[in-house]
Amino acid sequence: MNWQHLWIDVNLACMTEQADQPYGVIEDGAVAIEDGKIAWVGKRSELPEFDQHKVAIHRGNSGWMTPGLIDCHTHLVFGGDRAKEFEQRLQGVSYETIAKQGGGIRSTVAATRAADEQTLFDSGRKRLNALMREGVTQVEIKSGYGLDLENEVKQLQVARYLGEVHPIGVSTTCLAAHALPPEYADQPDAYVNLVCDSILPKVSELDLADAVDVFCEGIGFDLSQSEKVLRKAVELGLKPKMHAEQLSNLGGSALAAELGALSVDHIEFLDENGVKALAKSGTVAVLLPGAFYFLRETQLPPLDALREHGVPMAIASDFNPGSSPICSLKLMLNMACTLFSMTPEEALAGVTRHAAKALGLEQQMGQIKAGMQADLALWDIQHPSELSYSYGVNPLQALMIQGKLQQI
Ligand code: NIG
Ligand code: FE
Repeated sequence: MNWQHLWIDVNLACMTEQADQPYGVIEDGAVAIEDGKIAWVGKRSELPEFDQHKVAIHRGNSGWMTPGLIDCHTHLVFGGDRAKEFEQRLQGVSYETIAKQGGGIRSTVAATRAADEQTLFDSGRKRLNALMREGVTQVEIKSGYGLDLENEVKQLQVARYLGEVHPIGVSTTCLAAHALPPEYADQPDAYVNLVCDSILPKVSELDLADAVDVFCEGIGFDLSQSEKVLRKAVELGLKPKMHAEQLSNLGGSALAAELGALSVDHIEFLDENGVKALAKSGTVAVLLPGAFYFLRETQLPPLDALREHGVPMAIASDFNPGSSPICSLKLMLNMACTLFSMTPEEALAGVTRHAAKALGLEQQMGQIKAGMQADLALWDIQHPSELSYSYGVNPLQALMIQGKLQQI
C-alpha cells in the first residue's frame, strides 16, 4: 500500500449500480488514492491501517463527493458565434430553414475555417475552464465545423492538444459527416466519398479521433450515407456514434445500434423499435436538454420506453454555437429533470456512469470505485439531489483529476 491522498469526513455518492442503494451512497465514507487511481473506498469506520505520515489527509467538511462529471457530447472547438441566427429564430425562422438557406452549421464552418489554431485553442480552453469550475473532469469534443481534410484535421488537433495541456481529459470524435460543405452543395454522395476515402483514413493514421459520429437527419445525411460512414469507421477500428432522431425519425438509431455504436444522441423522435434495438446492443441514449431547450423543441425523448427497456441514459451539454450555446453541464442536470422528467438520480448517473459508457470509458471512470481513475468532485450540499435542484451558486468545493487537486 502506497496511498498518497485520503479523503475523510465525506459522504459518498459513488454512482455504482446498486438496486437497493440510490446514488450508491456511503455515508461518512473515505476514499484513498494511489498513483492517480482510487485505491480504497468504503466506510470510514472500516478503513484499514495506513501510515499517517505518508498520506495527505483531506477533510470534506461533511460535504458530498461524486465522481467527476463527464460531458460526453460537445462541439466546443469552433470559431465565431451565431447570435444573429438566434435573433432570426426568435422572429420565427426555424433552425431547419436557416440551415437550408446556407446558414446554421455552414456559417460556423466558414468561421472555423477562417480561425487559426491559436484562436480555436484559446476559446476552447476558456470553455473547458468553465466546465471544470462546475466539476467536469472529462469532455468529448467533436469536429464537424471543418468539413474538409485540412480543417477537420485542424479542429481535431486543437482538441487533442487541449487534452494534453488542460487538466480535463478529452475524448475526440470525428464528425466530418455533420453537414455538406459549400463546395459539395447538392453532391452528398461525393462528399461522403471524401469522408470515407480521405478524411477518416487520415484522421485514423494521425490518431486524432477516438470515435466517429454522423448527423443522420433530413438536413444531414440519409440512412445509407450514414451507414457508409459508420462502416468505414468500424473498418478503421474507430467506435461509431450518431446524431439521430433529433428533428425526425429516419431509423438511424437502429442502424447505429446494429453497427455497435457507443451512443445515439438527441433521439427526441425515437420510436419503440429503436429503443429495443438500443437495449439489445447496449448502446447509450445520450439526451441533450440544452438543444431541446434552445431550439424550443416540443417532441420529448421516449423516457418511459428507455426506462422500461433498461437503456442507459446519459446527459450532455451538446455545447455548440447553433443549437446549445450553453457551456454548463450542471445546468443540464436541472434541465434533464425539469424538461425531460428525469429523476435527479437518473440525471446524475447520466453525467457520470452512463456518460463514461457513452465514451467507451466505463472501466476507467464514472464511478467512485477501487481501480477507477481518481476523478472526484466535492460539493457543499446536504444531498446529491441538490446538484440537479438549484443553479447559480456554485457548490463545488474541491476537484481532483487523476488524483491531482485542481485550482478551481
Ligand atoms: O448537436 N445536430 C447537429 N449538430 C449540432 C448542432 C450544430 C450546430 O447547429 O452548429 C447539435 O445540435
Ligand atoms: Fe451535437
